[in-house]
Amino acid sequence: MAQKKKSPEITEAELKDLASKARKAAKNSYSPYSKFKVGAALKLNNGELVIGTNVESVSYGLTFCAERAALVSAVSRFGPKFRIQAVAVTNLNDGASPPCGACLQMLAEFIESNAPVRFPAIDGTRTMTFAQLLPQAFGIKIK
Ligand code: THU
Repeated sequence: MAQKKKSPEITEAELKDLASKARKAAKNSYSPYSKFKVGAALKLNNGELVIGTNVESVSYGLTFCAERAALVSAVSRFGPKFRIQAVAVTNLNDGASPPCGACLQMLAEFIESNAPVRFPAIDGTRTMTFAQLLPQAFGIKIK
């Protein structure tokens, strides 16, 4: 679940660098069906940057988003004991691509609630905190 822990300040330069890594990742996109090439980059509290891109399937519903690809890569490389401090999403199509609901819900497990998330919006690049994007992440809480 997203924690209320304070994220160290992420600088504009770091966010820019993260966005350019996401852009690089998007070049590896496998998206023959939508032709929408997405890249994501995560900054982790262990200092590492992890990237992902979208991977589609002819069975369309099996498609993997860039953000979830990056998350799965991070867990595969470092195990589950990290926190995400910042996220950047880009696409090579000049379209808007905020992280989808499924990706936000999966990120919720590992991300700090005040982590900045940068993405292309309809009206240009936007940066919002994770909690602004997903204020009510699902969690199993039994009363
Ligand atoms: N996609 C992502 O990679 N991330 C998102 O958050 C939403 C959508 C991908 C999935 C699919 O390959 C393409 O964008 C068009 O939906």
